[in-house]
Amino acid sequence: MKTAQFARYGDEGVIEIVDAPIPRPGPAEVLLRVTASSVNSVDIAHRAGAMGLVTGRTFPQGLGVDAVGRIESVGTDVSGFAPGERVWAIRAGAAGMKKPTGLAAEFAIVDARRMAHAPESLDDTAAAALVVSGYTALRALRDALRLQPGGRVVIRGASGGVGSAAVSIAATMGGRVVGLASERNVEVVRALGAHEVFDYASTSPSEVGPADAVFDTVGTQLPAWQRTLRRGGRMATVALASPAALASVALSAAQGSRRIRAFVGEPPAGQLAALTAFVEAHDIRPLVHETITLDDIARAHRVFEGRGLAGKVVLTV
Ligand SMILES: NC(=O)c1ccc[n+]([C@@H]2O[C@H](COP(=O)([O-])OP(=O)(O)OC[C@H]3O[C@@H](n4cnc5c(N)ncnc54)[C@H](OP(=O)(O)O)[C@@H]3O)[C@@H](O)[C@H]2O)c1
Repeated sequence: MKTAQFARYGDEGVIEIVDAPIPRPGPAEVLLRVTASSVNSVDIAHRAGAMGLVTGRTFPQGLGVDAVGRIESVGTDVSGFAPGERVWAIRAGAAGMKKPTGLAAEFAIVDARRMAHAPESLDDTAAAALVVSGYTALRALRDALRLQPGGRVVIRGASGGVGSAAVSIAATMGGRVVGLASERNVEVVRALGAHEVFDYASTSPSEVGPADAVFDTVGTQLPAWQRTLRRGGRMATVALASPAALASVALSAAQGSRRIRAFVGEPPAGQLAALTAFVEAHDIRPLVHETITLDDIARAHRVFEGRGLAGKVVLTV
């Protein structure tokens, strides 16, 4: 089978499509015939070696942390899933990333607890665009921010993968959605359901005004955005790559409900089924910037690393 992997850290030129044996699922795992995957920020960090302390120096390592496809076979301990069913899945954690095959491949192994039936309302490309971003946005808005109908929610990075999903989901939840995006994507974000959209390059936090919730996907200026919270407001970030972001989160820990909440990593068991139900109930559709074949994954990484994208870069297999 074809799989995307790299034998050293570096720019997108290190990625190769190679032939590898089809992996075999363990007792709690499923073998997936992948039809689509997507490029996520974590793939770029992984490939570039920015996570080298956790992903180590044993190569080759596979790429891809999400997938949509059909179940080929299930491990002996897996229940509730059968061959032929259409599912979406997320893989996270350093242990999985160190393996020679990831989810950007013709076949992939996924943990049955991080998988759910894919929404009937989305085709495979759309589902691949939404699985990580939609899950991350739903977890932030529902669990971390507890967004209420009418609540004014500021979303930073509103045309990005996670941010665009967050705009759609927050609008569906009845939030008064304020998006921050680059000037060229202001109308795109409005079309997703945002009530107000600001160009981030020319707008300061104080100009955006008071917020009941701030969802940050950028990782800069966190204390300044935290100061826009109304009494009882909540803030969350998922962009923790910089020491400054980590420090802001850590320093806010003593501030009770006003602290900056952060989460990383794979979904707790069962969470993807909740995303499937939400997407089907509310007809959520992701923003797709470009669809590129797996063979061309190096170009997909290059496109993702450019600025000004509107939504996700999806890989079709
Ligand atoms: N914790 C988790 O489970 C989890 C899951 C997924 C992602 N993440 C993290 O979430 C972050 C975003 O991921 P993503 O996939 O959505 O990335 P993305 O698609 O690259 O989106 C980032 C967006 O931020 C915008 N942006 C840049 N500077 C900005 C600023 N100062 N103000 C407002 N917007 C700004 C960019 O716009 P322009 O390109 O137009 O400048 C871009 O649209 C990453 O740090 C990623 O690691 C965490």
